[in-house]
Amino acid sequence: MIKMNENNVLNKSVINWYPGHMAKTRRLIQEELKNIDIVYEVIDARIPYSSKIKNIDEIIKNKIKILIMTKKDLCNLDMTNKWVNYYENLGYHVILVDLKNSKDYEEIIKLTNDLTKGIQDKRKEKGLNKKEIRALVIGIPNVGKSTLINRITGKNVANTENKPGVTKNLTYLKTKANIVILDTPGILWPKLDEEIVALNIASTGGIKKEILNMDEICVHILNMMYQNYPDILMEKYGITSNDVMEMYEVIAKRIGAIKNNEVLYDKVSEKVYNDLIGGNIKGVTLDIYGDRLT
Ligand code: G4P
Repeated sequence: MIKMNENNVLNKSVINWYPGHMAKTRRLIQEELKNIDIVYEVIDARIPYSSKIKNIDEIIKNKIKILIMTKKDLCNLDMTNKWVNYYENLGYHVILVDLKNSKDYEEIIKLTNDLTKGIQDKRKEKGLNKKEIRALVIGIPNVGKSTLINRITGKNVANTENKPGVTKNLTYLKTKANIVILDTPGILWPKLDEEIVALNIASTGGIKKEILNMDEICVHILNMMYQNYPDILMEKYGITSNDVMEMYEVIAKRIGAIKNNEVLYDKVSEKVYNDLIGGNIKGVTLDIYGDRLT
């Protein structure tokens, strides 16, 4: 049988894991913000609502910012574009990128130059030379912050997420343009008070796997896909029923996760989770626009 965790999506260790990271990020941002000209706020195009920090301006004040939606190649473009429009209507500058297989990131450089023209013009008026624009990358775990830094700078910056307590001097990395990027992204954590937000973040790899109830995550993925993307579910696993037990059985047969006539639930859950995280399932945006906001 599928076991459900009493604590819902997360077990308690996530609560201990979070404040250390958050404190570190706030310190980093507070100390460095005065030197920053532009903030790249990174969110995942599959969860444009769930991966967005609601009180971001309390942290980054009134800095110029670009909202960068990564994993364009994995999202449902129709659904994600509704979110792009939504944020644009709120006044955000939004760029949707595939950081893995494209040069979409070049748009970020271009927009950065456009948005910081005022800073450069003021310097010119004062008889000063153009300055290097300093950028800070922030966002919740696993949205593509390190990948973004690596693509723009052509360097290979390690993902420091799972190493709390690592202290190092802040370094700005050069890009080909007149922009430098802080090599340490600011890792933020969303409020997990909405269960759907926690489920969506967990389903897309933003919460350490070890502390998740994988069956619950898998049931969430299957249900939301059945409701919103049934064709993908059919094509991927041959699922036509909305009954979760039947869905598990169909997948189990397909992947050989049956032993002594019993469905190996753990294996099925793991498979579905890995398929979504690893991009084996494409075309899925988990935040459904009409459900959250209209
Ligand atoms: P983070 O710093 O915000 O924690 O995220 P990170 O850059 O480590 O990216 C998390 C995962 O998302 C990585 O996959 C990365 O390759 C992938 N990713 C980032 N942007 C995109 C994108 O636009 N499209 C797709 N398809 N994937 C993207 P990984 O499997 O953890 O690492 P790797 O094996 O790819 O290096």
